[in-house]
Order: sequence, then C-alpha cells, then structure tokens
Amino acid sequence: MSAPKDSNLFQKLGLKHPLIVAPMAGGPSSVDLVASASAAGALGAMGGAYSNSAAIETFAAQVRQRTDKPCAINLFVPHGIAEVTPDRLERAIEATAVYRRELELASPQLALPYEEDFDTQFETVLRLKPACFSFVFGLLPVDHVREVKKAGIPLIGTATTLDEARALEESGVDAVTLQGFEAGGHRGIFDAKAADSEIGLRDLLAQCVGAIHVPLIAAGGLMTAEDVRAALTAGAQAVQMGTAFLACAEAGTSAPYRKKLLEASERRTRTTRAFSGRFARGIENRFMDEMDRKPEGILPFPAQNKFTRDMRGASTAKGSPDFLSLWSGTGKGELWQGKAADLIERLFD
Ligand SMILES: Cc1cc2nc3c(=O)[nH]c(=O)nc-3n(C[C@H](O)[C@H](O)[C@H](O)COP(=O)(O)O)c2cc1C
Repeated sequence: MSAPKDSNLFQKLGLKHPLIVAPMAGGPSSVDLVASASAAGALGAMGGAYSNSAAIETFAAQVRQRTDKPCAINLFVPHGIAEVTPDRLERAIEATAVYRRELELASPQLALPYEEDFDTQFETVLRLKPACFSFVFGLLPVDHVREVKKAGIPLIGTATTLDEARALEESGVDAVTLQGFEAGGHRGIFDAKAADSEIGLRDLLAQCVGAIHVPLIAAGGLMTAEDVRAALTAGAQAVQMGTAFLACAEAGTSAPYRKKLLEASERRTRTTRAFSGRFARGIENRFMDEMDRKPEGILPFPAQNKFTRDMRGASTAKGSPDFLSLWSGTGKGELWQGKAADLIERLFD
C-alpha cells in the first residue's frame, strides 16, 4: 500500500532534516559520505548501480559500522539488452580511436553483460533491508514492488515528467523524486531513446503538487538553504541534492573531477549521451564536445557506458578531466569543501 496522502515519510524515518544526499554511483557516494550524511540527520544514499552483490554488501556493512541511522540504496532499473550490431560497434571504435591512442589504450573488446545483473542486486537489497530503496530509469516490475512491500522497505521512484510521476504512483511507490532538467548526472527519463522533456524543477513541482498524492522529493540545481526552503514551500516534502556535496571532504569524487568542479566558478554544464548512451548532465569537456558532433559513434545505453569505461579510467589515472563524465547540475556558487555534516547544518539553518 502506498503512503497515505498526508503522511510524511521522512518524519517516519526519524530524519532530522528532509534531505536525501543523492545516491551518486561511480565513486562520489563513498562510504564516508553516505554514513556522514545519515549520521548528520539526512538520508545518506548508496549509489549501487555499478556494484555487484558482494560490493553492495561490503559497502552497506561499512556504513553500518559508522552509523546506525537510516540509509538508502539506489539502483538503475534495467531495460533489456541493448542491441549493438557489428556495424555500430565499428563506428563507435572508429569515433574513439584517436582518444584510445592518446590514452595508450588497446582497441576495446565490448562483451556482454553491459551492466550488473539487476535481479542479483535487487535480492541483495531485499536481504540488507535498507531504510529506503530508490530507483531510477523507469518502473520497478510489479513482482519486485510486491517483494519490496513484503519486506517493509519504503520505495522511491524517479520522475522527470508528470506522466512518469503518475505511472510511479500507480505502481505503488511511497514517494517520487521529481528530477528537474537542472539536475547533475543521469536524467531519470524512463525511455532511454526518448527526447528529453527538459522540464525544470519549479514547473515539474507545480505540475505534480495536487496531482500526485505520495510525498514528492525535489531534485535538480538546489545548492543553498534558500533553494531548499523554496522547494519545500512549493510543496516538496524533501529535497535531494547531489552536486552540492560533490566536493565535500568525505566525497569519493576523483582528483581531476574535483579540481574541475572547483576551478569552474561558472560551471558550464549540458546534457549529453556521449558517456553512457543516456542523457546526463555534466561540465562540458573535450570528450563531450567532440562526441556530440559524431552521434553515430555513440552506442545505446548501457553499452556505451561499458565501452567508454576504459577511457574514463585512463583519464583519471593521468589526472586529466578530458575524458571524464564530470556530472554536475546547473547550480552555481562555490562548492562546500568541508564536512558534509556542516553543509547539512547550513542548509537547514
Ligand atoms: C555525480 C552524480 C552521480 C549521480 N548518480 C546517481 C545515481 O546513481 N542514481 C540516481 O538515482 N541519481 C543519480 N544522480 C542524480 C541525483 O540523484 C540527483 O537527481 C541530482 O544530483 C540532483 O541535482 P543536483 O546535482 O543539481 O543536486 C547523480 C548525480 C550526480 C551529480
């Protein structure tokens, strides 16, 4: 059963602040960041999408050693196997050959599986019984929703449009994260091949308040206490913030990524499919600029994500931001480099 209309999921969880420190798969959501966020009274969230079952278990155990406060786990909903014809792969190899030469990487061998096995990850989540399970990129299959409910785990889906929010509500989620176009990282659009509605958070919230009856979580471009207050006043029951926490002392953000976030005082971001095959927002860099001009060389999600991983690894090793996915939202201002707990206090002053 979904939450009653007037209930506040976040009070029920015993959070001091209605804030989810966003799950940020791929490094930034370190054990330290998740544990510190939860210990400070927000909801820390593990971005488990790229982790196998053993890694998710180890991560959760390490968080548990640092805090007994509620934590969430987040996964990507799968969409079947992306079709990669030999011809498309050839074009992708050609489009990136110059970069692999520069990074001294061998020619890529793209083999299945392109992503972690969702059902195995999901079983691990059920076993770990986090305070919340959140997901992105679509609806959770009906039998999975049933199992999460049976396990008593609150369920949070992600929507980028009113239609997606409606579908999530009907599927039985306990809360919906409304992700505005301003958000850093992957757009939660259900259909990976669809055009982006590009709806900003303010409009999306206005459309959903009153139309959606489960609690709404506002995400996208929120950086300050004022932003948080505005989202809560506009009808969100909680906020989810990623970019604001990327340079925190505890974040697992790599050195070249961190440097780029801090030096770009007016972080110029846009959405691109270049890194993973799905739209995601990040700071403009060479890979994004050049690949966006040769879209025929970009594979479908999640094949492209696997295909470009070696380049991201080599770029990090070289200390270069040129080939990194520098996920960041549109929010301006200097990023907080102190402890996450101090940032959280400032946001709710
Ligand atoms: C580095 C990074 C990684 C992200 N990874 C995930 C993820 O694994 N799962 C998810 O649901 N959202 C992910 N997001 C999106 C966030 O949940 C959220 O929508 C976004 O951070 C909000 O916008 P903001 O970055 O402007 O605060 C990520 C965002 C960033 C910046």
